[in-house]
Amino acid sequence: MSVHVIVGSQWGDEGKGKIVDLLSENTDVCARYQGGPNAGHSIVLGDKKYILHLIPSGIIHSGVINVIGNGVVIDPAVLFEEIEFLKKNDIDVTGRLKISGNAHLILPYHKVLDKAQESSKQQNKIGTTGRGIGPAYVDKYNRSGIRVVDLLDENTLREKIKQNLYQKNKILATIYGVEALSAESIVEQYLTYGEMISGFIDDVSIYLNDALKKDKNILAEGAQGTLLDVDFGTYPFVTSSNPISGAACVGLGIGPTKIRRVTGIIKAYTTRVGEGPFPTEFSGKQGEEMRALGDEYGATTGRPRRCGWFDVPIAKLAIRLSGIDSFALTKLDVLDTLDEIKICVSYFIGDEKIDDFPTNIKKQEQLDCEYISLPGWKSPTTEIKKYEDLPVNAKRYVEKIEELTNVPVSIISIGPDRNQTIVRESFVF
Ligand code: IMP
Repeated sequence: MSVHVIVGSQWGDEGKGKIVDLLSENTDVCARYQGGPNAGHSIVLGDKKYILHLIPSGIIHSGVINVIGNGVVIDPAVLFEEIEFLKKNDIDVTGRLKISGNAHLILPYHKVLDKAQESSKQQNKIGTTGRGIGPAYVDKYNRSGIRVVDLLDENTLREKIKQNLYQKNKILATIYGVEALSAESIVEQYLTYGEMISGFIDDVSIYLNDALKKDKNILAEGAQGTLLDVDFGTYPFVTSSNPISGAACVGLGIGPTKIRRVTGIIKAYTTRVGEGPFPTEFSGKQGEEMRALGDEYGATTGRPRRCGWFDVPIAKLAIRLSGIDSFALTKLDVLDTLDEIKICVSYFIGDEKIDDFPTNIKKQEQLDCEYISLPGWKSPTTEIKKYEDLPVNAKRYVEKIEELTNVPVSIISIGPDRNQTIVRESFVF
């Protein structure tokens, strides 16, 4: 039938996992289109919590086929750990997971390089997840990367690993003073992964386009968020892929005309993990309080997240770049106890008023925020089932976001569990 893209609208960690899991109920296929094991998509069902890094968040629903597209970079060690974890939790991926042969692999030297590059920087550290994402995408675009399909051909694999390591070992030793890695042990390990992965490999583009012809629904799951986009985010403090919706076409092998809808996932406040500009960031105690209220620690690295108020120019940037037609607003309940809630509506640099998030990093670092203030609702929302039953001031907050962004909020999340969700009838999918 058509494709519905789910994109992160801030700096990632907006709660995409929960919303993708929720929407998967009415989906035939769930397909991840970019990023890698830097992502941490959390799904909570009662007392069970699943954190997925590579496998799409549709996997929890037994009727959904899950696809890892060519745009994703795959660390087989993480992939098979995740498959094992799911198996232990009675979720069998057999016959329900398809992996693009064109997807690039993360190799041990990518992770070593990622960490060495970061720790050698005196300033301007990016604060990467250390999962080898940047170096793996560098090899992809340098045309020296190793792809999933290469795991099936011993000679090609050995040759490519040797060629890559010849160069990487020199860089590691000369620039970073790091010990050389052995090609043969990596070859052995990756040949084993090849045997394990062979049953999952498919031509994902053909599979997805056939599914569309058969009137199937596809949910395209993005990772990270708009402000971490390598082209449009707070460069260089970004990830090495394009989380925005257009990347779903390239990362899955589907045409733009197949996309029917784009939902932006947006947190009721803002967080970011890692370094870089963050206009509405709280300082000191306020940041700590919000972090504690929202349990804001990275799902992949456990790092404390930086916190701040909701930022309208950032939401508008996400809307513009991804063509977002509705929002899923998450973690509204985290604001339940606050007296006052602020929204950044525009910025200033000196006397100059700025309505759009600037592209220039120097400007991004200088932004002062213009806020409006709304009264809190000071009552719990976590058990509420219908929009009408939300406290008046909570509805005012949601409607103010709709008014300022001109995009409807179709889903509201008021707790981590699948059933702590309000789907507004007027915007049903
Ligand atoms: P990398 O993607 O590991 O190279 O990290 C680059 C930047 O993106 C760092 O600031 C990371 O903290 C951030 N980042 C990467 N993945 C995620 C994510 O899934 N959620 C939030 N931040 C992320």
